[in-house]
Amino acid sequence: MSRPTPPLSRLRPILAELKAYTVPAAPPPVKLDANESPWPLAETVRRSIADAVASLPFHRYPDGRATGLRRALARHLDADGDELILGAGSDEVIAILLQAFMTPHEGRAPVVLFPGPSFVMYRISALTHGYEPVEVPLDADFALDPAAMHAAFRDHAPALAFYATPNNPTGNPYDEAVLRDLVASYPDTLHIIDEAYGPFARQRPEDRAHTLSPWLAEHGNVAVMSTLSKIGLAALRLGWLRAHPALVHELEKARQPFNLSATAQIAAQVVLEQHGDAVEEAIRAVVAEREVLSAGLAERGLDPRPSQANFVLARLPASRKEPLLAQGVALRFFSDPRLDGWARVTVGTPAETRALFAALDATG
Ligand SMILES: Cc1ncc(COP(=O)(O)O)c(C=O)c1O
Repeated sequence: MSRPTPPLSRLRPILAELKAYTVPAAPPPVKLDANESPWPLAETVRRSIADAVASLPFHRYPDGRATGLRRALARHLDADGDELILGAGSDEVIAILLQAFMTPHEGRAPVVLFPGPSFVMYRISALTHGYEPVEVPLDADFALDPAAMHAAFRDHAPALAFYATPNNPTGNPYDEAVLRDLVASYPDTLHIIDEAYGPFARQRPEDRAHTLSPWLAEHGNVAVMSTLSKIGLAALRLGWLRAHPALVHELEKARQPFNLSATAQIAAQVVLEQHGDAVEEAIRAVVAEREVLSAGLAERGLDPRPSQANFVLARLPASRKEPLLAQGVALRFFSDPRLDGWARVTVGTPAETRALFAALDATG
């Protein structure tokens, strides 16, 4: 017997044009395609997480306010707890923002503006929430184009603007004077500085990471977003937005009450409170290895872009994808025509960098 048809015709029409986000089921041995940390958590860290998880009251709902994690994160960021809204990854934080700002403006769908090419979820999430996404092309050097940005702001009066800085997948941070001018010129827009790769924004491993969070004290229309995904805890799904408490107070109304599992909360809290040094050490190792990776890509004539993130964009055509995979190496290639001929290479361990170079040499 065939099953009855669900009411597919009532779905949002835009879904017909989108593809679900998929990842390969069996990762290859050298996985450099998802900007994760290459370093597994140390045994001591795992043990303290396991101990904390073992004593959770699993039959109860988690703490909806994530009190312990909020305290640990606030200390980690030198922030106030009531400046933070926590989500299951920054992906969920983006969705919360979109839900909260969803009001038609002057008779048309609200607009989400972002320079691009950039992180794909700005566009996808905007579409699935009924917004019009407006992507403003970066210049040939992947830098902000100030004139094009101003024109887009004037034409579209966006509710939200997202800036990934350092940008994914290009690796460069945006010019701060240009950003500041946009923030000051368009006070009715919430400007979200996405620092998913902020921890790697430093020249040398021992430097402090660069952040634009001091802007929060000067501009009510700025929010800073980040995540634990790139610094060793992608499996937990934990991201946050830091913004004015009055805005956070409103955004909290659009958040699902129990969006963070008790296991994710306690694991992140334990790592932040007891093992911050190990997290910092892994970030430093990535920043050091980024130099080795960039130098090796340059030696091979692959024109690596300067990067302040945990990946490097290099000239590798899509025809290299399958031969590299056959050697056990996964890189990120793109369907966006502007990224045709480029691949994003996540910084791996020194052994993974060597395996990558061997695979490039064997397949080039
Ligand atoms: C710029 C940027 N922002 C946000 C995210 C999402 O991070 P999360 O894992 O916290 O959802 C990513 C992930 O690739 C990203 O590149």
